[in-house]
Amino acid sequence: MNAVQQPYTTLNNGTKMPLLGLGVYDMYEAEAKAAVIKALETGYRLIDTAAAYNNEPEIGSAIRESGIARHEVFVTTKVANPDQGYDNTMRAFDTSMKKLNIGYIDLYLVHWPVKGKRKETWKALETLYKEKRVKCIGVANYLVPFLYELETYANIQPVVNQIEFTPWLFVKDALDFCKDKNIQLQSYSPITRGKKFDDERLQSLCKKYNKTPAQIILRWNIEHGVSTIPKSANPARIQENFNIFDFTLTKEDIAVIDGFNEGFRICENPMDMW
Ligand SMILES: NC(=O)c1ccc[n+]([C@@H]2O[C@H](COP(=O)([O-])OP(=O)(O)OC[C@H]3O[C@@H](n4cnc5c(N)ncnc54)[C@H](OP(=O)(O)O)[C@@H]3O)[C@@H](O)[C@H]2O)c1
Repeated sequence: MNAVQQPYTTLNNGTKMPLLGLGVYDMYEAEAKAAVIKALETGYRLIDTAAAYNNEPEIGSAIRESGIARHEVFVTTKVANPDQGYDNTMRAFDTSMKKLNIGYIDLYLVHWPVKGKRKETWKALETLYKEKRVKCIGVANYLVPFLYELETYANIQPVVNQIEFTPWLFVKDALDFCKDKNIQLQSYSPITRGKKFDDERLQSLCKKYNKTPAQIILRWNIEHGVSTIPKSANPARIQENFNIFDFTLTKEDIAVIDGFNEGFRICENPMDMW
């Protein structure tokens, strides 16, 4: 599987984005740079960072030094919660641009739906988009109530909504809403940071398909048309998480995995910000 053969989605503004990407939360300095270089060598063409991850300079330098043309790599970053609001977001965007130093940002996301700041932050993203300073804008952690609220003040639709989404947190209403509105759903903490790998139902699917727990879960995302951004700083696991395009899950097994849902969360519930 090389970089060109992996599945891409076309976002609602016509931009193409790979369905699989590398998340780079909780990796720093040399480790972050090496992980991104390894991922790009493996074939990943989507990298998901955030101002809050404190590694934009390393991510940027890995991309610059990878030898891969800038337009082939899709880079996401996010405005951090303390930087939300109109003017602060505009400044935060400039800071991320400087730190990444890769010419442009493909996707700029509202990191969390911060109470009292959501509208002004989105207006700043709309300005950045209208002024062609960023290729795409989107949101993260926008569960359905936040998406309905966004419709009351947005002139431009988000292209992506990035939420925690796993077999054990199968957020069906957000998946359906986003499909209906042509917003690409993207799953974070997709492999539950390994916390559910010993689920016996998952283990039996691993045996059936001769795939690892991470590969079954990531493939389940792809089968649902969900973009997914597993994090790994380990070269073997970066490769393992990319090896999901040589098999498919049956409809019956997809339905079985959908049934794992139990509301299990790794991260904070965004509704706490309502
Ligand atoms: N928008 C948001 O609010 C938000 C919140 C959380 C995360 N995110 C994004 O989503 C990305 C992924 O989420 P995450 O980092 O929380 O969790 P994750 O991707 O579910 O899990 C990452 C953890 O699993 C390990 N791992 C990776 N591949 C593995 C494999 N094949 N087998 C066993 N263990 C494996 C990693 O360790 P090694 O590195 O040692 O492999 C790491 O400890 C983040 O990096 C970030 O980009 C966004």
